[in-house]
Amino acid sequence: MANRIPDELIDQIREANDIVDVISEHVQLKRAGGNFKGRCPFHQEKTPSFNVNPARQIYHCFGCGVGGNVITFLMEYEKIGFIDALRELAHKAGITLPDRGSDRTGAEDDPAVVANQMALAFYRSCLEGEGGGDARKYVGERALGQDVVSTFAIGYAPAGWDNLLGAARRKGIATSALVSAGLVVERDGGGFYDRFRDRLIFPLLSSGNRPVGFGGRSFGDQEPKYLNSPETRLYRKGYYLYGLSQARQAIRLSREAILVEGYMDLLSLYQAGFHNVVASAGTALTNEQGRIIAKYADKVFIAYDGDKAGTLAATRAAETLIQLGLKVRVAAFPDGADPDSYVREAGPDALREALASSQDFIDFYVSLNPTDDPDDREGAARSLIETVVGIEDSLKAELMLEKIAAALSLRPAAVARVYERRRAERQLRGRAAHKARAGEERQANGRTKGDGRQAAHSGRQGEGAGVESTTGAHYRAQKGLLGLLLAGGEGAECVRSHLEVDDFTNSDIRILVERVLAGSASEGPVDIAALIDPEDDSELAVLLTELAVSESSQKDGGRLCDDYIGVIRKAQIEGRIQDVDKEIRAAELTGDERRATEAMVRRQELAQQLSALSSDR
Ligand code: CTP
Ligand code: MN
Repeated sequence: MANRIPDELIDQIREANDIVDVISEHVQLKRAGGNFKGRCPFHQEKTPSFNVNPARQIYHCFGCGVGGNVITFLMEYEKIGFIDALRELAHKAGITLPDRGSDRTGAEDDPAVVANQMALAFYRSCLEGEGGGDARKYVGERALGQDVVSTFAIGYAPAGWDNLLGAARRKGIATSALVSAGLVVERDGGGFYDRFRDRLIFPLLSSGNRPVGFGGRSFGDQEPKYLNSPETRLYRKGYYLYGLSQARQAIRLSREAILVEGYMDLLSLYQAGFHNVVASAGTALTNEQGRIIAKYADKVFIAYDGDKAGTLAATRAAETLIQLGLKVRVAAFPDGADPDSYVREAGPDALREALASSQDFIDFYVSLNPTDDPDDREGAARSLIETVVGIEDSLKAELMLEKIAAALSLRPAAVARVYERRRAERQLRGRAAHKARAGEERQANGRTKGDGRQAAHSGRQGEGAGVESTTGAHYRAQKGLLGLLLAGGEGAECVRSHLEVDDFTNSDIRILVERVLAGSASEGPVDIAALIDPEDDSELAVLLTELAVSESSQKDGGRLCDDYIGVIRKAQIEGRIQDVDKEIRAAELTGDERRATEAMVRRQELAQQLSALSSDR
């Protein structure tokens, strides 16, 4: 955990607060067998599907899929950060937490986190305070209401070179902490000055609702228009989505996200009632940002600026998202408009209409690019095919190829041929890269990691590495095994003795398995509430609580474990067969007969292994 409050103290506070008591203060709970049930406070529902399990000290909603322990409940319910939730629970239990902000806590907490939290409070008070007149006027001009200002913790960094430095000094926060948070800049001649001056401040909140950085907007035409925190240990631009902590629940419920470019776009949309909105803010959408969206959404509406730069950026973002397996729609705005100005001027209904009439990627691309003469059509086709080459799902790829051919009046067979060739080339490159990566990993770990496929999975940096499927037998088996591990007993024993972390390819499950295995083995069930780290992506807690409340039977653990292991081994061999098939196709294309024959021999062996495994069962 990034915070420096000792784990034992966190455990003590958690254990001192019974989850049923705490949740009962906010939700009406009724006993139902060993559990308590109520109406979920995180989504609208008529029939109660919100479960609280007193034995395991966790909650889980079968309706919307939220889940966690007593700390994450308060964080999500009160929209507060980890430290604040902990503080509240400590207070309830009469436990004293080391006071934040006084000189001694620097060592207790992560200094950069403390600095960011102090800065957030300082900027907010400046927006409300005496010197905040111009900033409040600007907030009014941008039509931001009190609700969004407080939901997004918007603040004001006053003019002057050392206001934040002074506030930090008064709180006993070291300048080095401000430096590590990127809040101050070192002068050439020595000394420091505030990075953010005379700007409206947009805090960048983590999934645990802590500020990891800030964005600042100048009021007039001063350049740069936006200034952002530098990358720090806490803030990695390409991995961060602005607004996610506020939008996550709405996205999770609708499985749809709206992607915008800027802070103001996001705030205006949120204010207009579109709560499932995130912004890449300050970077072209990265693969990592796309993967985060894909955890919560199946479909993304790209709502970028209506100008040339915006449509180009929308094209790139669409390519990234499609290759991650997401459904993509691109909304069009008039040139000169952006979602912010559009929703303010035309209203929420017009925006809803713009989303409803948004185009799929191929139509969008064709409408943007000239396709009058054959050369143009060829260029458009090649570019579109390139996107399809990155799609893992072959059925999706097939359908897109058909559509490309139709949209550009090309023969489907010709489109398919170009696709096959590009796909083979890409796999050749991919294999070389995998090999290099696997080699590096082996060296770094000083041990063999199994086959290259698993190394590629654990690295997950490979270009176009898709989002893992969360359906299908292989995923279910991994989930089942984690469930056994959590339940304890014979099943857990079996998992521990037969499987390794590397056998788990789904990254979420793998993280949790690693965490369980890092603890000491005990006879009974694992303490799930203790496994939940509030700084995690909340999907991890949901996965854990879901498994815990569905209580896989402990009795049949051993047999279940064997069955699941069979599925895992089968999937591993099938994966290797797929790899070999790709290699065969590639070798045939390049006319490398020796390699093709070699690969076919390997394929034979694998097929035998597979059938042996099936007849065992
Ligand atoms: N951006 C940035 N640095 C800049 C300009 C832009 O980081 N110098 C980022 C900001 O996150 C901004 C986004 O890119 O929100 C979109 O930029 P732009 O469209 O220029 O700004 P708007 O969102 O339209 O902002 P405003 O309405 O305040 O002009
Ligand atoms: Mn804009």
